[in-house]
Amino acid sequence: MARVKTAVLVSGRGSNLQTLIDACAASDYPGEIALVISNEPGAQGMARATAAGIPAKLIEHRKFATREAFDAAIDRELRTAEVDLVCLAGFMRLLTPGFVEAWRDRLINIHPALLPAFPGLNTHARALEAGVRWHGCTVHFVRPEMDHGPIIMQAVVPVMPGDDVDSLAARVLDAEHHCYPRALRLVAEGRARVSGNRVLIDGADWPSAVSFSPQD
Ligand code: GRF
Repeated sequence: MARVKTAVLVSGRGSNLQTLIDACAASDYPGEIALVISNEPGAQGMARATAAGIPAKLIEHRKFATREAFDAAIDRELRTAEVDLVCLAGFMRLLTPGFVEAWRDRLINIHPALLPAFPGLNTHARALEAGVRWHGCTVHFVRPEMDHGPIIMQAVVPVMPGDDVDSLAARVLDAEHHCYPRALRLVAEGRARVSGNRVLIDGADWPSAVSFSPQD
């Protein structure tokens, strides 16, 4: 089975990167992580890549005069590694429209909220402040506008009465770790097709039940 060569871009902890690395260890997984790029020298994600024997490239945005030059350097590395797909996993730089268009429908991101609710930062605090009963994460194809683009998969978690930012973040992060490898599988298998703003999925099961929170 030919595996889809995937790069992961990180800026920090890299726990989502780790779940992708772990998923790719299975012999029937359709992707392989061929390259990890970080813009931050100390990123734990780089150490995770190295520990897994994956090439890890540091491309520091601070060393580039413009966003375009930084993105061009990333693009060069991706093409040199002959990567087909790019996953953003806690990559904290906004990519330029030129880069995003060059990788259109081959560039995916995970966001810690149920988009289009709560794009941007501090999603868990904002969810608590808004009083929502459900929160979660979204894996989507990237478009130039931040945290926008056709949705591939979402996972929902309940917001509990006693939650604070940390407890809610931990619940969502656990959902992210289940969601990202599944979403990448769909894309790598060619089962996620973009149609306008929507993503059509071939051969998946769908949840059938209505869920209530709270339940009476
Ligand atoms: C995750 O919550 C992800 O959704 C967001 O940044 C965080 C990265 O965490 N984009 P990690 O580096 O994968 O542990």
